[in-house]
Amino acid sequence: MRRLFSTVLLRIFFTKLLYLRRYGYLDDHMPGTRNLASAENRKYALQFFQNFNKIPITGVYDDATANLFGKERCGCPDVMPQKNEAAFSKKKNPPTPVQFNLGTKWNKNQVTWRLNSFSRKISNNNVRVETRRAFDLWSKNANLQFTELQSGDADIDIDFGRREHGDGAGNAFDGPGRVLAHAFFPPFGDTHFDEDEGWVVNRTGVDYFTVAAHEFGHALGLGHSEIREALMAPFYTGYNPNFELNSDDIAGIQALYGAPRNQPRPRPTTPRTTMPPVVVTEPPPPRPPPTNRPTFCDIPYNAAVRDFNGDLLVFMGRAYMLRINPNRGLVARMSQRTVFQRSPIRPDAATEVMSGSRIVMMKGRLLYHFSRSGRRISRKWISGGGATMPEQARAALSFSSNDISVFGASQVWKLNPNTGRVISGSHRYIGNEFPGVPNRIDAAVIRDDTTILFFKGRSRMHVFDRRQNRVVRTVDKGNELMDSTCNV
Ligand SMILES: *[C@@H]1O[C@H](CO)[C@@H](O)[C@H](O)[C@H]1NC(C)=O
Ligand SMILES: [Zn+2]
Ligand SMILES: [Zn+2]
Repeated sequence: MRRLFSTVLLRIFFTKLLYLRRYGYLDDHMPGTRNLASAENRKYALQFFQNFNKIPITGVYDDATANLFGKERCGCPDVMPQKNEAAFSKKKNPPTPVQFNLGTKWNKNQVTWRLNSFSRKISNNNVRVETRRAFDLWSKNANLQFTELQSGDADIDIDFGRREHGDGAGNAFDGPGRVLAHAFFPPFGDTHFDEDEGWVVNRTGVDYFTVAAHEFGHALGLGHSEIREALMAPFYTGYNPNFELNSDDIAGIQALYGAPRNQPRPRPTTPRTTMPPVVVTEPPPPRPPPTNRPTFCDIPYNAAVRDFNGDLLVFMGRAYMLRINPNRGLVARMSQRTVFQRSPIRPDAATEVMSGSRIVMMKGRLLYHFSRSGRRISRKWISGGGATMPEQARAALSFSSNDISVFGASQVWKLNPNTGRVISGSHRYIGNEFPGVPNRIDAAVIRDDTTILFFKGRSRMHVFDRRQNRVVRTVDKGNELMDSTCNV
């Protein structure tokens, strides 16, 4: 009896670890930890999971966590290990999908799909109708056109299967409940539905259309979203007759493929109005002419600061910068070292310290100070130890002259820019401090007293309102900041 009991406990323990590992929360790249299943690592992974999924961050396996672990969800990971970035190459057994800001996408706008097998729960015709409807959702919101193939090689191959269904034991489905489906990212596109689910059409239950629309998001290159209302959030939220894409889903797909062709791009004038519904023309329009949108409109930012005259300076690529005026848009493209002498290439983070008229940059464990004219004043080591710098810096903001807020992958903490010392006990989760701001942002800047801009990936900009304490809009950064240059 005792033995049986402890076996059950052990199984629960390993099931939890496997879950956290499978969805990317537990990973051996965590700084300072060797043992994947150490108590510290488990706690961090649980906190990470709780933060990603917007439940109270307790670091223990509580009821809210247990509830989510048992919920129906997509089988793709939520967090991509960094190492997959480099290892990802075509036709090397696709290991896991990749987040949309890593930029795997179809290098074309006309994508084909094919139904290779069907479900015994829904008629073949209904599967076809609902599949088409799920693709329409994406083509209405991005420059994408889909065509069904009845034979030959399609980009997106759709199948129903149960348990081990041809893509390895690690990807086997798990019977009824839990994992409903999964999909592989471009250039693969294979999309699989768990035939053990009770698939239904247009009624409460495991709605094929909703799950298919989510999986096709992956097959087009989108990863999981931390925005709970987004279609691309990992958990299945049930059938909703009035289903619509969330603005986060739209920002994601447009970051990869651009706005629909038959719809004007949104102009960054205020107030913004809801765009009219799009009529999709059949057959799909001919291949669009190449646009002359400059490539720098869609490059991730390394760091961003507000210059003392109010211009926005962004660091991008290996060593160049853009100067952007709030009214006039793009003013200049410059080499980084002509602006900031002896500055680190590809800084991790940068911010202006207004009262001291200084610009501070971080790279690794070094902190640099620059004068207003771009002269390097000092370079010092950041102190405070690994525990106070739990994650590599990705962005920084300064709200006072005595501290700067440093953003890591999921946490934000404070550092004294004068001493370089991390303020212990100042660590918070980004999602709690800045509601709506996702993890792993690339850069951030205070635009004015009311607005902070957070940049993520090639095109996304989250506009955070300080008075409402939330993200109020997610937009295409090129269109918004450099309208006349990028919005072509
Ligand atoms: C489900 O409902 C949608 C929206 O009302 C409709 O367009 C679609 O044809 C329905 N699907 C089936 C298979 O009847
Ligand atoms: Zn998914
Ligand atoms: Zn599969």
